[in-house]
Amino acid sequence: MTYRTIPIRQVSTQRLAEIHQQCLPSRWSSKDFALLYADPAYNGFALEENQLKVVGFIDLHVVVEEAEVYSFCITPEHRGKGLGQKLLKKLFTEAHQRNIQKIFLEVSEANTAGRHLYRALGFKEVGRRYGYYPQTDHGTTAIVLCSCPENR
Ligand SMILES: CC(C)(COP(=O)(O)OP(=O)(O)OC[C@H]1O[C@@H](n2cnc3c(N)ncnc32)[C@H](O)[C@@H]1OP(=O)(O)O)[C@@H](O)C(=O)NCCC(=O)NCCS
Repeated sequence: MTYRTIPIRQVSTQRLAEIHQQCLPSRWSSKDFALLYADPAYNGFALEENQLKVVGFIDLHVVVEEAEVYSFCITPEHRGKGLGQKLLKKLFTEAHQRNIQKIFLEVSEANTAGRHLYRALGFKEVGRRYGYYPQTDHGTTAIVLCSCPENR
């Protein structure tokens, strides 16, 4: 298998919605993605397997020198192979090239895999949002993480 990163706007909003629905409780629709990407401040990358099938993506909203990750998903059958890490490293490279100083994201307190991965890549906790997630996500508290110059 080969995996390459491609700009998120090369992926159909239908495929993004399919992946999102497999990965995150908020379950964005194709229409949600179309609305989001009508705004150039939203950007991201997807991972394509064998130049055929998109198996994950990360998207973000950029404001001046700061970015916030909105969605980060790898389809269940492709997890645990380092693909999530590959996407985050691509994000760091792009952030560096675009002079983005800070990258923020929220992760559920109950999301062991996500927390492990973010910690390994140097994200640090900068806050908590209580009652942020619906009960169905096995916990309601969001941990706010930052990859910031003072943390790196
Ligand atoms: C979070 C997510 C994107 C990670 O993708 P992935 O491709 O599986 O990630 P990787 O394989 O690059 O790395 C996962 C790391 O977490 C570890 N991990 C995976 N599952 C784990 C678990 N249940 N408990 C602890 N660590 C776990 C892996 O061992 C690996 O760490 P390592 O490099 O030290 O071995 C993926 O699990 C996913 O899409 N989850 C559902 C959506 C989600 O939670 N998104 C993030 C919201 S903030």
